[in-house]
This record gives sequence, C-alpha cells and structure tokens, in this order.
Amino acid sequence: MTVRPIITLPDEKTLRQLSRPVAVDQAARRLFDDMLETMYDAPGIGLAAIQLGVALRQLVVDISKEPETKKPLFMANPEIVWESETLNVYEEGCLSIPDFYELVERPAEVKVRYLDRNGEGQELHASGLLATCIQHEIDHLNGVLFIDHISKLKRDRVVKKFAKAARLGKL
Ligand code: NI
Repeated sequence: MTVRPIITLPDEKTLRQLSRPVAVDQAARRLFDDMLETMYDAPGIGLAAIQLGVALRQLVVDISKEPETKKPLFMANPEIVWESETLNVYEEGCLSIPDFYELVERPAEVKVRYLDRNGEGQELHASGLLATCIQHEIDHLNGVLFIDHISKLKRDRVVKKFAKAARLGKL
C-alpha cells in the first residue's frame, strides 16, 4: 500500500472528469489499498479514485473513530438505488479542497448498490454521516464537488482563493 498525492483545487480539469466503470481485478484492489492508505494518512473519511488522478468508479469510506476498530468500505461502480425524501445537513469538507468547510443538505438515507473489494455485489442502507459521505464520494465519480451544492457566491470565492494560491506558488 502506498500513500499517493491527492489532487486538489485548482485542478478542476482532473477533478471534473467523469469516471469510468471498473472491473474489480488485481489492479483495482491495489488501487483500493492505495486509496485507503492515502485516506487514513490525510486523514479523511472518504476518498474517490479521481482524487488520485484515476478516473475509475472506485471509492473508499471509513467513518469509524479512534480507538474504534477501523471499518473500511470499498465500493466499485456504486449506484444510489433509493434515497429518502427527508434531508440532513452536515458540515462537509473534502481532501481536494483543504481547509474549507460548508453546510450541505442531502438525502438523510440512501440505499447503494456496489461491488465490494472481492467484486461481489452488495447493497447497503446508509444513514447519518455514512449516507452523506457516500453521496459526497459518488459525486466525485461524476465530476461533482461538494462546493457545487453551496451558493455560487461562496463557491466562486473558494475557487478563486485556490487559483490565486496556485498562482502565488503556495500550492
Ligand atoms: Ni471530497
């Protein structure tokens, strides 16, 4: 397992890519393991392959807190097959948008179908933080960032901040 560099703003060219469906083979498992290692190292609670510059539909999530046992979830080709009408608000952040947090409203519960690390079909009913985290990561697979769910004013402000920092050589 290798910790790989995480793509951040202002690299929207990479982050806005649509990720392709993946076959869960040895290479996919290796990528899963690198993603998990990178996420734990950051640290974060979710990571999509595109954040490592790989446009494949793979994500990892682990919302367990120390000193709980780690509970990593590996998802390939995840699909939301049901979402609740009830919404929930969480303050979200993203490893690709460091040090920026904002409230985002999403369905409070979702049912997601995916292939696990062994390529076996699974269905998970998620609620609370886990539901939010899975939706945030699936958004990444479609080139969507959590700042797309906030006001345009706030989004423009954060995008400009990262563009400016990159120009000044701070990133
Ligand atoms: Ni993110």
